[in-house]
This record gives sequence, C-alpha cells and structure tokens, in this order.
Amino acid sequence: MSEDTRYLTFALGKGRLAKTTLSLLEEIGITCEEMKDKDSRKLIFVNEDLKLKFFLAKGPDVPTYVEYGAADIGVVGKDTLLEEGRRVYEVLDLGFGKCRMCVCGPASARELLQHHERIRVASKYPNIAKDYFYNKKHQTVDIIKLNGSVELGPIVQLSDVIVDIVETGSTLRENGLEVLEEICPLSARMIVNQVSMQMESERIKKLINEIRKHI
Ligand code: PRP
Repeated sequence: MSEDTRYLTFALGKGRLAKTTLSLLEEIGITCEEMKDKDSRKLIFVNEDLKLKFFLAKGPDVPTYVEYGAADIGVVGKDTLLEEGRRVYEVLDLGFGKCRMCVCGPASARELLQHHERIRVASKYPNIAKDYFYNKKHQTVDIIKLNGSVELGPIVQLSDVIVDIVETGSTLRENGLEVLEEICPLSARMIVNQVSMQMESERIKKLINEIRKHI
C-alpha cells in the first residue's frame, strides 16, 4: 500500500457475527492481531500494512456508522438492516448467522392470526413487525417494543404473540411457544457506504470478490 492510501474502516456488530467475520477475513489474509486480546477495552484496531481499521459496535449501530461514512464497510444481520432501514449498499450475503424472523406464540394464538384480530405483538423489531402486519397481512395490531428476552411477552400476558429471531428453536420450545408464521430468512450481510463504493470501488470490489470466493 502506498503512503497516501487512505484507511478503509470496517464496523463489525459485537458478538457472534464479529467472531465469524474475523475468521472469514483471516482466511483471505486480513488479520488484526490487536483485536484478539479479550481483555482489551480498546474500541478501534488498525492493520497498518493493509491500511485497514476495525471497530466493534452494537449491531443496530453498524448501519448508522456505514450510512454516515464513519465506516466504509459493515457486517451486520439482515434483521438489523430491515429494522434500521439505513441508506447503505447491501453487497453480499455472507451465508453465516442463518436464522429466521418469525411470528411466534402459544399454539392457541394461531386462531387470532387467522381471524385478523387486533392483537398485541411484542418485539425488539417494531419496524419489521409493523411492516409485516400492516403492509403484508393488512392486519391492525398493537406493537410493543421490548429490548430482549421477548419470549416472556406471551408467557406473562404482555402480548399475544412476538416477532423475533428463531435460530435453533430451543428458546421457543423451552418456553412452550412455537413458530406460527415465517416472515423471512436472515443471515449476515456485508454493507458498504454509498460514497465509499464510488471512491474506493477498486479496493472494495476486490475485497468483495475475495470474500465471495470463500463462502
Ligand atoms: C435471540 C432471539 C431468541 C433466541 C433464538 O436472542 O431473540 O430469543 O436468540 O435462538 P434459538 O432459536 O436458537 O433459541 P438473544 O440470545 O440474542 O438474546 P435476547 O433475548 O436478549 O435478545
């Protein structure tokens, strides 16, 4: 890399996706040793040779950093992209982090869905829930935003159903709930800032191709 090459910045969603993303990047020769130190509280990491920077952010903030150009590239779940609705290019389905967005609840709630009753829907994803019920099903519902452990909703009678991610289905099973309707499949996606895609197109396209060959 020449002296005046500018840094490309990656924003990675903290947690499971970041781990898999870093292994994938490592397989194509992009490493960031600094980032592996588990005890570090540092937020930004640099690979001087490749002129790359990496930072870890909360998943829902990743598309925000990418839209504003604070990061050129991001890796985030499709659930977050749908929920946040940011103006970014979604360039690659990375094929990991596969799960489904579903309407779930007790078996008894199936009938409420079929009869288009005005039900209560708890979710960490109010925009996805709204879009599904209002635009796809034309069903008026009350949406209640929660921040986690959403399966509690129907158990403590906060809501009739939930809209949530189902991966193995074990959280549902252990709480006497089931998938009632499937909204869409999900997986990790690579996103790119719209201006970076024009200005750094050669480097970014090369990177996309290398990753694509590996997945
Ligand atoms: C997610 C999701 C479900 C669970 C699904 O929660 O919200 O609760 O995983 O996975 P499963 O089908 O394999 O059981 P997460 O672990 O991210 O925590 P949260 O409930 O605090 O959001």
